[in-house]
Amino acid sequence: MLFSLKALSSAMGLLPLVVANIQDIQTRDTVSQYLVVLARYTDAQAAADDTIERRLVEPVIPINPTDANFGISAVAPGRFVTSADGTKIFAEARGNPLKPAIVFIHGFGIGAMAFNEIFDDLVWLDQAYLVRYDTRGHGRSDKPTTAAAWVSQRLAEDFDAVVQSYNLNKPFVLGWSIGATHIADILSFHPPSYISGIIYDAAAPDMDSLFSIAAPGPVALLILISSTSATPALEWNFYLACLGDGVVQPRAATQFLFTRTQNSTGLLQAGTSGALPLLAIFGANDKVVMEQPILNVIAGWQRLNVTTLPNAEHFTWISQPVLFRQTVLQWITHHP
Ligand SMILES: *[C@@H]1O[C@H](CO)[C@@H](O)[C@H](O)[C@H]1NC(C)=O
Ligand SMILES: *[C@@H]1O[C@H](CO)[C@@H](O)[C@H](O)[C@H]1NC(C)=O
Repeated sequence: MLFSLKALSSAMGLLPLVVANIQDIQTRDTVSQYLVVLARYTDAQAAADDTIERRLVEPVIPINPTDANFGISAVAPGRFVTSADGTKIFAEARGNPLKPAIVFIHGFGIGAMAFNEIFDDLVWLDQAYLVRYDTRGHGRSDKPTTAAAWVSQRLAEDFDAVVQSYNLNKPFVLGWSIGATHIADILSFHPPSYISGIIYDAAAPDMDSLFSIAAPGPVALLILISSTSATPALEWNFYLACLGDGVVQPRAATQFLFTRTQNSTGLLQAGTSGALPLLAIFGANDKVVMEQPILNVIAGWQRLNVTTLPNAEHFTWISQPVLFRQTVLQWITHHP
């Protein structure tokens, strides 16, 4: 029986959803059985069983409109977790639960969907357990506008809620752009042993240094938005999503996001004491943040690896998907 490429690719396209579904129904050890099922999926079988797609796709979760989302309703794979202060955080896990977990924290102007290219990539899905969430104020999560909702501990608690919901044990944390500041929040309220390591992707390490690491220009976020239009690798939908998420964010939330304060002592001690390894990835053509000022913030970090991806913009994983993937997965392999 010949494989139909079309049928196979359509089955493979369902894989992330299948794996996410498996996680959600708590039968993780059957992942490999599902992979075998997918590998055997052919036109003939599809014709014989026209319900297979319905069985493999993760049940969509209707997302109730909230005031914070301006009554926008949606359906998506994933789940809402409740942070300590009651804020609803939208989270999602895909991939191989038997491999190291990596929690991805996105930056400004777009939610967790920024990482779609990674979360749809079969190699990533096979080699890691990928977790992402819309940070408060973004995407499908609540968007509180009080000062109390933006103190450092609240952001650490959002991460905690995700870790608990997916039963993660010492995950790696990948912070992109301003999303990386959340790692300083996390390490203010937890010992370094809470996580396995830090991956900085074009990262802002902490709020104190935000404006010293931003590229010169009127406002770094304007550059971010204009750089999206100058990046041929960005798809139109992604570009619109970047703009759209910024538009639906209440201005008060945007203001807290850029002016909130935090204590970086826990973060820096985790590095200078040698407790945590850190991989810092940069895009050689990044127009938003600057490499050396970022490295200056974490000067003295003992277990540090730095990789600068050639021809990569601020969205490093979109500019250089294969190099980015290799860099992260190889590094994780060396830091079990
Ligand atoms: C920051 O946290 C450290 C302990 O981790 C503490 O000693 C220090 O006083 C804190 N700094 C501020 C400004 O609160
Ligand atoms: C990371 O850097 C260390 C030195 O600090 C080096 O021994 C190691 O090979 C590097 N690992 C990777 C994956 O590049």
